[in-house]
Amino acid sequence: MRPSLISTPLLISNLDFSYSRKQKHILEREFRDKAYHHIEPHLDTSSGNASAIKPERLKFNPNAIVYFEGGCKRYGEANLSIGAEAVQYGNLCFEGVIAYWNEDQKQLYIFKADDHYKRLVDSAKYLDIELGETQEDFKNIIVSLLKQNNRKSHTYIRPFAYRSDDIIGFTANGSTDFGVYLMPIDRDVKSIKGLNVCKSNLVRASADAMPLWYKIGGHYYSSAHVKRDALKKGFDDAIFFTHEGNISEATVSNVFIVNSKDELITPPKSANILMGITRDTILQLGKELGINAKEEHIHESAFKDAKEVFFTGTYVGMAPVVSFEGKPIGKGSTGPVFKELHKKYFDIVLGNTEHKEWLTPVY
Ligand SMILES: Cc1ncc(COP(=O)(O)O)c(C=O)c1O
Repeated sequence: MRPSLISTPLLISNLDFSYSRKQKHILEREFRDKAYHHIEPHLDTSSGNASAIKPERLKFNPNAIVYFEGGCKRYGEANLSIGAEAVQYGNLCFEGVIAYWNEDQKQLYIFKADDHYKRLVDSAKYLDIELGETQEDFKNIIVSLLKQNNRKSHTYIRPFAYRSDDIIGFTANGSTDFGVYLMPIDRDVKSIKGLNVCKSNLVRASADAMPLWYKIGGHYYSSAHVKRDALKKGFDDAIFFTHEGNISEATVSNVFIVNSKDELITPPKSANILMGITRDTILQLGKELGINAKEEHIHESAFKDAKEVFFTGTYVGMAPVVSFEGKPIGKGSTGPVFKELHKKYFDIVLGNTEHKEWLTPVY
């Protein structure tokens, strides 16, 4: 039986019960001495274009507190077996949640935690994983981890649910679990450096074979393959197209275009996309700004005539695309619609204006 879930905030003393009292004492002292902000992310700059949002290879602080197997543990001690179904077959689902730090308010805001919970539950169901954690538990765990790790700057949060049995082949049942870890974000989240992108070297898998709106580990094989190919060719990222020649999405973000009629368009679910939470936000903010914002298929030919193109995603935020396959998009620089939406988006996520209902304050 797992220890019962936190109704009170997690404390260091709730650390994994297998620790001896002496070990706990050492860990508590270490934790006080070494707050999480000592983590030094190591940025991999070995490949790709200079303006790329690099895949960050992070050296995690082994002392950071994570949530794993029903309680708090150190990152360095929260290990999955090499034979676990999740490790060998990618049978896990995950979320990428973000918490933005507002320096003036000395406040950390988690963005749209409830939406991330709902998407995680949906993905988990598809993997026959029943999440024991309620929406409230989910938020409490994240808030508690952010506090325990003394997070006072932008932070990426990775909740995940996984099939944990050591197994060759598959069974209808089996053990499952849920965990959360954090990752510091040390890049300029508001950066509007333009991306140079190419067409993916794989066609988008069809939804009846692989419904990509479920955020499942194994689904990311194609994104990883395509991203590696793009980086090796000197691009920042790639865009997937469907068998019909319509845009699907980028490797870890959704795509928007501004067409010649100044409409803001993003592909629909039937383009086999992840139904991005940032995408949903931008569609709504576009409408609030009086822009004709809609979901519609975008054929490659319309894409090439776009005035503006940009990517959205929790980690990416909003990123303008300035060229496709080496040819400039629009004027080859960041466009006015992007800039307006970008300003509104960051005013909101940093807690400086309306839509406070989307934010969960941590402190
Ligand atoms: C394949 C893919 N598409 C789109 C997105 C953007 O989704 P969201 O805005 O919910 O982060 C992500 C990010 O996780 C992704 O991995």
